[in-house]
Amino acid sequence: MTIDISQLTLEQKASLLSGRDFWSTKEIAEAGVASVVLTDGPHGIRRQAGDADHLGIHDSLPSTCFPPAVAIGSSWDRDLARTVGGAVGEEGVAFGVSVVLGPGVNIKRSPLCGRNFEYYSEDPHLSGVLGAAHVTGLQAAGPGASVKHFAVNNQETERMRVSADVDERTLREVYLPAFERVVIDAAPSTVMCSYNKINGVYASRDPWLLTDVLRGDWGFGGAVVSDWGAVSDRVDSVRAGMDLEMPGGDGSTDAQIVAAVREGRLDEALVDASVRRVLELTMLPHEATGQLDVEGHHAVARRAAAESIVLLKNDGVLPLPTGSRIAVVGAFATQPRYQGGGSSHINPTRVDVALDEIRALAHAQGSTVIAEPGFSLDADEDPAWGAAAVSAAGAADVAVVFAGLSDREESEGFDRTTLTLPDAQVELIRAVAATGTPTVVVLSNGGVVSLEGWHDEVAGIVEAWLLGQAGGGAIADVLFGVVNPSGHLAETIPLRLEDNPSWLSFPGEQGHVRYSEGIFVGYRYYSTAGVAVRYPFGHGLSYTTFGTDGMEAVVTGDDTVTVTATVSNRGEVAGKHVVQVYVATTAGPVRRPLRELRAFEKVALEPGESRQVELRMDRRAFAYWDIEQGGWVVAAGEYTVQVCADASTVLAEQTVTLVGDSLVRELTMESTVGDWFGHPVVGPALMAGLASAMTPEQALQAEQNPDGLKMVESMPMQQFLVFTNGAIPVEVLEQLLELSKTPAPVV
Ligand code: BGC
Repeated sequence: MTIDISQLTLEQKASLLSGRDFWSTKEIAEAGVASVVLTDGPHGIRRQAGDADHLGIHDSLPSTCFPPAVAIGSSWDRDLARTVGGAVGEEGVAFGVSVVLGPGVNIKRSPLCGRNFEYYSEDPHLSGVLGAAHVTGLQAAGPGASVKHFAVNNQETERMRVSADVDERTLREVYLPAFERVVIDAAPSTVMCSYNKINGVYASRDPWLLTDVLRGDWGFGGAVVSDWGAVSDRVDSVRAGMDLEMPGGDGSTDAQIVAAVREGRLDEALVDASVRRVLELTMLPHEATGQLDVEGHHAVARRAAAESIVLLKNDGVLPLPTGSRIAVVGAFATQPRYQGGGSSHINPTRVDVALDEIRALAHAQGSTVIAEPGFSLDADEDPAWGAAAVSAAGAADVAVVFAGLSDREESEGFDRTTLTLPDAQVELIRAVAATGTPTVVVLSNGGVVSLEGWHDEVAGIVEAWLLGQAGGGAIADVLFGVVNPSGHLAETIPLRLEDNPSWLSFPGEQGHVRYSEGIFVGYRYYSTAGVAVRYPFGHGLSYTTFGTDGMEAVVTGDDTVTVTATVSNRGEVAGKHVVQVYVATTAGPVRRPLRELRAFEKVALEPGESRQVELRMDRRAFAYWDIEQGGWVVAAGEYTVQVCADASTVLAEQTVTLVGDSLVRELTMESTVGDWFGHPVVGPALMAGLASAMTPEQALQAEQNPDGLKMVESMPMQQFLVFTNGAIPVEVLEQLLELSKTPAPVV
C-alpha cells in the first residue's frame, strides 16, 4: 500500500526518521504505516527477544551462524556468497526481520583492525563482488540489506570520532569502490553510514558522501540508516541525506527536525524525501514465519566453511593418511572459535567441534586419535598440559595443532597491537614440531596472524579463519581430503607487522588517522615496493594441480578487454581453481600499483578436465581517478593483462594498447611550458607563431640548441613570461587560452 505523505503532519513525518526502540522503526497505525525490524547481521540473524544492545552482549534467539566475511572473502566464490546471503535472508524472514544489517565491505587497511573478521578483503574488487552477491541473495529471499559501514571505517580505535584523512583518488580507487559495486549491482535497500569522520566531517553529516557520491554518482535509491548512535547533529544529518537514525531515542531529535523546519533552517522537502525512503522499508516483509531450516542451513554453513579454508602450506602431510595415529592438540580443537565478538555475534543453532568431527572421519578411515588440550584459552594455564601434548605428538604419526586467537585478543570495539599468537601457543607448536612428528597447524583467527618463528618447522598450515557454526566439520573435511581446499588469501600475510604500509599511521593520533600510504594498500604496496611477504594476496594450495594455457587478451573497444584462458585439472582429484586476472600499467599521469586485481572466476574441474574461461573487463578495470578532471580516466597507452596464481606470481600475460579517453586539459597560466607546447591544439599554433616571430639568427640558435625547450619545460607559463621578458604577447596568450578549451582528440 502506498502511503500519501501529504496526509502526515510534520511531527508524524519527523517521527519516522528515528527508531522506536533498539531494533525497530515507529508505526503510525492511523496512516497505515507499519513498524519494521532492522537487526544484525551480517552472517546470521541476531534477533534479540530480551534486553537489547549493539555489542552482542545479550543473547539472541538461536539462528544459523554462517561463516563471517573473513571466510567468505577467502572463498573467492560469488555463487557461494549469494547462497549464504540467501540463507541469511530466509532466516530473516523466519524472524520477521525486514532489514539485515550487513554485509560489511570495509577494506582491510591494517591487519590489526579488530573487526577485520567482518570484512572480506584488502582488495576493493573482491570485496565488492562478494558483497554484491551476498546482497543479491539476501534480498531475493525477502529482507533488505544494509551495506556497511559507509565509509572509511577501517579501525576500531576511536571509531566513533576519529577523522580518517584520505585523499580523493584513494577514496575513489580503494575505499569506495566496494560500496559502489554493491549499490550499482545489487541495489541494497539501505546503506549504513559509519561512526567516523572523513576528512573532518562525520559520515552521518556528510552531504558529499551521502548525497553527491552515493545518490548522485551511483544512483542509490534506498535509505541511509545511521550506525547505532552515529548521529551527532540530527538536523545537519537530514540535510546531508541521512534518513533513519538508529536506535530510537526519546523523540528529542524528531523535535529538532520539526523545529528546524518551522524556523526555516531545514527544507521540508528534504524531510519528505527521507520519509519516502524510510516508508519504502515498511514495504519489506515483516511478519515472522517462524520457519527455520536448521538442518539445511547447517549444511550450507558447512559447505561454505569448507570452501573458505585456505591451505597455506603442505609438504605432503595432507590429506591425512589412512590408518594413522593422529595426535590432536590445542584448545581450539574442543573449544571452537567460529565467530567474532560484538554486534555480529550469533547464538548458533548448534556448533560442530573439530575434535568430534576428526574422530568420526578418522574412525571411518581406520585411523586413531589421541587428544590433549596443550594450552588453555582461560587466563590460568596448566604447565603440565604442554608436556602431555608434546608426548602425545611424539608418539603419533602426525600431529595437528589447533592454534589461534581468542575473543580476548580480537573483537569489534578494539584493535590488536600485534600479529603474533600467544606465547604458549607458539611454544607448543615449536615443541610438537621438534618431536619430529610431521605437524599440521590449523589456525582459527579473524585477522591475519604472523607465521614467523614456527612456519618453517611445520609440515602443513591450514588457515581456517572463523568459519561459523559448522567450521569444525569443514576443517575435518579438508584435513582428510573429503573436501579439496580451494580458498585463497583475500589479504596478504606479511613477514613483519612493520612491513604493512599503514604501519606508521595506524591507528592515528590526536583524533586523526592519516591514510599516508594512499592507494598502496595491501598487495598494491608489497608488490610495487618489492617488499617480501610470507604469503601473497591470492595464495592458496590444493590437493591437485592446475594448468593455465592459451591465455589471450582481446581489445573489444576503446577501453574494454576480454580475457580467455583454458584451465585444466592436471591431478588425481577434483578441485576448484580461481582464475585471477590483474592489470598492470604505467599509462597516465599518476603512479599506478604494479598490478591490480580486476577480474576473477572460480572454476570446478574434475581430474583431467579442461575448460575455457572468459572474463570481460570494462573501462573501470583500466581507469584511475583523475583529481583534475574529477572523474575516471582511461589513459591512452599500454596495459598488461596478467593471469596470476597470486598477486606475486604471473602465469601468463599479454600487453594490449588501449585508445582510452580523448582528454584535453584546459590550459592556465600555471600550466607549464611543456603543457602548452604539448597541447594538441595550442601547441602547434604556438610553435607556428613563435617560428614566424623569430629572426633568422634566433631560428638558427633554436635549431642548434634542441634541448633548450627541455630546460624550461617544467616552468609555469607565468614564470616563463617573467624570465623571457614577455616573449609571447598577452593578447596572443589569451587567444591561446581560449583555444585550449576547444575539445580535440588526443592521439
Ligand atoms: C555496529 C554495527 C551494528 C550496529 C547494531 C554498531 O555498533 O558498528 O555494525 O550493525 O551496532 O548492532
